[in-house]
Amino acid sequence: MVQYTEQFILLLFFTLKNGKHFIFITYLCSLIRSITIIIYMYRTNTCGELRMTNLNQEVILSGWVQKARKFGGMIFVDLRDRYGITQLVFNQDTNAELCNRAAKLGREWVIQVKGTVAERSNKNPNIPTGDIEIISSELAVLNPSETPPFTIEEDTDGGDDLRMKYRYLDLRRSVVRSNLELRHQMAFATRSYLNERQFMEVETPVLIGSTPEGARDFIVPSRMNPGEFYALPQSPQLFKQLLMVSGFDRYFQIVKCFRDEDLRADRQPEFTQIDCEMSFVEQEDILGIFEGLTKYLFKTIKNIDLPDFPRMSYADAMRLYGSDKPDTRFGMQFVEIKDLTAGKGFGVFDGAEYVGAICVEGAAAYTRKQLDELTDFVKRPQVGAKGLIYVRYDLDGALKSSVDKFYSVEDLQKWVERAGAKPGDLLLVLCGETEKTQKQLSELRLEMGARLGLRDKTKYNCLWVVDFPLLEYDEPLNRYFAKHHPFTSPKPEDIPLLETNPGAVRANAYDMVINGVEIGGGSIRIHNSELQKKMFSVLGFSDEQAQAQFGFLMNAFKYGAPPHGGIAFGLDRFVSIFAGLDSIRDCIAFPKNNSGRDVMIDAPSTVAQEQLDELNLKINPHETPVTNT
Ligand code: AMO
Repeated sequence: MVQYTEQFILLLFFTLKNGKHFIFITYLCSLIRSITIIIYMYRTNTCGELRMTNLNQEVILSGWVQKARKFGGMIFVDLRDRYGITQLVFNQDTNAELCNRAAKLGREWVIQVKGTVAERSNKNPNIPTGDIEIISSELAVLNPSETPPFTIEEDTDGGDDLRMKYRYLDLRRSVVRSNLELRHQMAFATRSYLNERQFMEVETPVLIGSTPEGARDFIVPSRMNPGEFYALPQSPQLFKQLLMVSGFDRYFQIVKCFRDEDLRADRQPEFTQIDCEMSFVEQEDILGIFEGLTKYLFKTIKNIDLPDFPRMSYADAMRLYGSDKPDTRFGMQFVEIKDLTAGKGFGVFDGAEYVGAICVEGAAAYTRKQLDELTDFVKRPQVGAKGLIYVRYDLDGALKSSVDKFYSVEDLQKWVERAGAKPGDLLLVLCGETEKTQKQLSELRLEMGARLGLRDKTKYNCLWVVDFPLLEYDEPLNRYFAKHHPFTSPKPEDIPLLETNPGAVRANAYDMVINGVEIGGGSIRIHNSELQKKMFSVLGFSDEQAQAQFGFLMNAFKYGAPPHGGIAFGLDRFVSIFAGLDSIRDCIAFPKNNSGRDVMIDAPSTVAQEQLDELNLKINPHETPVTNT
């Protein structure tokens, strides 16, 4: 405003070519600047901006009172805005009236202050503005505030529930705000990287049809089509494939997705994907572009140069880590010892399909109590093992195990040799059905990694897991499900197996894993309607069902579908990894709690009967609708 007024007057002046009045006009401009500052300007600077280079400048700041303290005849106020905190000083001796008004300020009041930048005698090295303070000369209360329910500082006294209820106040805390700033930077850098490579952001619909595969849908009743429902998209999968048929070639979208699944630290019912699709590509092209994106984000945001990402097959990931998202920040790979344990009279091992061990470096000195704790850990229902067997390889070379009755020192020696253990290490062994036991051993491995401090949040290990199985067999339902989704293409060499051994078919599918978290996943798609039809039939869809659910896609494929593939990253998980967060909730502005509730706006909630009537929905009259109190 000030700038434009000045420019306008100067322009007018030069237009009139009235050079002799230059000094007068310049003076007039500076007068206008001062008057405009007083009348219009809420602030000349932010609360994070002023330094020693600004000494003696007259400034106006606006913000929230974080805290005020009295010290002799002085009042010190920490004034906060999005950019930082600046100390204000009110002095009884020089301006008693102003000081008395400052004494009445409460926490979180919104104020405006005019003053002069001065050097602090008592500097605060913990904040960037800690060398200066503002000697206040004017004070305006822009809005008083009720006392907030918790302190809005880095270390708050508010518990989780309270902070969720008053999320808008929690977001004032710099620790929470900085996660959202990081999220913004990552989204912005992503857009810039993809835009430079001809990716085009296209919005796809949010009200779509329900599909039977994948997670549970959130459904939305249609008033205009009584008895019919939309679903919220679990991902824009089908639309991005249709965009490829339309010739869009390189698509992306930073997009909300919705899945009605049980919540965990890395799952929210609504979350954000960086969703991408490309035409005329093979798996290598996709891995190259998106490994590039990940490296670009690490470089531009964290100034970290990542090495090329290793590739690991799904089969190796399961064999060595018991997980399709292995945390490779530490070793402790599985070793199979079934052959070494067989035939010594220990029925538990003899009857097991799989006996696997991990070698925990330097843990031979674990006490009985610590080993009992580990046994309790693997026996928890979430892990589900029946027991834990250990072999201590003492520093003096002695070998002691919890199965000494069955195995000689020579036997145990073979186990530790296979595991590559050295004196001082501890072998932990689980046994049972292969897949189940590998999962349990994976939990134990992660627990040991955490206990030994090997899961360092400042270290980043990225990898691609490739060659996923195309299908997963569901015993109780006696049918195959798509491991990724039904549009994923089989490896061409495995296509004949679709007839004979569908379980053995490998997919052109890949996941990006960072520090044991699945950050993204995608695949090369089927672009041939005959192969797509075949896939639906392997998945147990009749022609009619496939036509009803996905007819539009199969029809589209009849009109020149290019070879295509893509990937989607979970933005919330990506940001959490960058910020070192334990839960994705902390990088979402307004997240849901573990029961899927937004406790701030109290959603979901019941609705008026008239609304239900309009939608043709009936609540069972014998059931009382659940209320949200
Ligand atoms: P997928 O189902 O693997 O693939 O999802 C891609 C990525 O989205 C993230 N993600 C989630 N993040 C938070 N909360 C959730 N509930 C949640 N569910 C998934 C994960 C995951 O890697 N359409 C395919 C992608 C493709 O094939 O192109 C898809 O959605 O980080």
